[in-house]
Amino acid sequence: MLKLSINGKTRRVDADADTPLLWVLRDHLDMPGTKFGCGAALCGACTVHVDGVPTRACVTPASAVEGKAITTIEGIHGKVAAAVQEAWVKIDVPQCGYCQSGQIMAATALLASNPKPTDADITQAMNGNICRCGTYPRIRQAIADAARALEG
Ligand code: FES
Ligand code: FES
Repeated sequence: MLKLSINGKTRRVDADADTPLLWVLRDHLDMPGTKFGCGAALCGACTVHVDGVPTRACVTPASAVEGKAITTIEGIHGKVAAAVQEAWVKIDVPQCGYCQSGQIMAATALLASNPKPTDADITQAMNGNICRCGTYPRIRQAIADAARALEG
């Protein structure tokens, strides 16, 4: 039995210790907001925060994050997350939407640790999050917009 802290709540899950966190979220806890893209830490679709750090849930054994604070797209809140979500809506970032929860999780972690990112900072933070629809310019624009809103 695994004991995980997810979005501020303790969840007990009957899963093997090496079950990837992604499948615990999606299959055991019916939380489909975190997406499966590649399963190999190559696309970022499955990004969650573990103690605030963007983490690929597809390659993270659930037992490795027991005792840590896991946050998913369903649970992000606070002024940084609100600024990111508002910017995403205002700039109409998503196309098919599949990669977008991972993009938002990566962008929120970036702005939480670096409220005034340079272009290079954005590139570095977002580089591992792939978008097959090519929404990259709007993602960058939305991150800059959210940073401006947080500054104000
Ligand atoms: S599904 Fe985890 S990085 Fe692609
Ligand atoms: S919006 Fe379609 S993959 Fe990113």
